[in-house]
Amino acid sequence: MNIRLDGKVALVTGANRGIGLAIAEGFAEDGASLGMAARDAAKLHAEAERLARTYNVRTLPVVSDLGRLEDATRFVRACAESLGRIDILVNAAGDVPSSPPLQSSEDDWENGLSVKLLGYVRCAREAVSFMKRAGGGSIVHIVSISGREPVGASGVPGAVNAALLNLTKTMADELAPAGIRVNAVNPGFTQTARMERHTAAMAHAQGISHDELKRRILSTIPLGRFGQAMDVANMVRFLVSDAASYITGVAVNVDGGFSRGAF
Ligand SMILES: NC(=O)c1ccc[n+]([C@@H]2O[C@H](COP(=O)([O-])OP(=O)(O)OC[C@H]3O[C@@H](n4cnc5c(N)ncnc54)[C@H](OP(=O)(O)O)[C@@H]3O)[C@@H](O)[C@H]2O)c1
Repeated sequence: MNIRLDGKVALVTGANRGIGLAIAEGFAEDGASLGMAARDAAKLHAEAERLARTYNVRTLPVVSDLGRLEDATRFVRACAESLGRIDILVNAAGDVPSSPPLQSSEDDWENGLSVKLLGYVRCAREAVSFMKRAGGGSIVHIVSISGREPVGASGVPGAVNAALLNLTKTMADELAPAGIRVNAVNPGFTQTARMERHTAAMAHAQGISHDELKRRILSTIPLGRFGQAMDVANMVRFLVSDAASYITGVAVNVDGGFSRGAF
């Protein structure tokens, strides 16, 4: 089975830490040229330089706030211009705080919708025109198991993620004739800065310590450990590769068995 990406250009959002960075690193190891987006310029440039040096691939960091249409457009166009084509887009940028939906502020709702839902749509819309010119492509949305069933006080992220799962299916239908596959990956509890913030908020809401909350979550994960960012990245590496050329419109849970495939 060949999952090499030599000669391909892959764009990854949220690429300076956590799951997005692991995906960018996996793609670099597989030989792709990389366009990388996030807001923290110093960290984005440092990671882009590290990946270029370590894996001998081209990387283009483009500092962007994907809650802004003009930044999303500028990111995709800069990558196409500098790297020559676009074959792959992975939308991973998002840091939507969890809280009970009716206690989430208007700002939280607008921010969640703008960065994670519209940010994904904006990058995809722009990238698709370049993929069509390249004769096809692959898009992966990093969503969440909370898009299928609420997990804790999922609130805004749960609603945004449910919308993204629906969007993945309609985009898969719309883009299949152009040879563009669209899939989603749903991480479970995956050890990143976001998971720390999310579980701390859950512990606070339940009136228990952060350690106790994590212990309780772990007891519900059949494989007995939290996910690592590379667990998610490895599924994405498969989905964008030629080995997955007959797969579109699916959402794969990478959650250590937490959902037991029940949702
Ligand atoms: N970790 C988990 O347990 C888990 C579970 C389910 C789903 N997910 C999903 O997986 C994705 C990645 O999560 P993570 O855990 O890796 O989170 P993370 O460690 O907090 O990383 C979030 C990434 O998104 C970027 N980002 C946030 N807001 C942005 C904006 N407005 N414009 C551009 N980039 C932005 C961040 O960079 P800057 O701050 O520099 O912009 C960072 O690179 C998210 O969509 C999250 O909802 C995570």
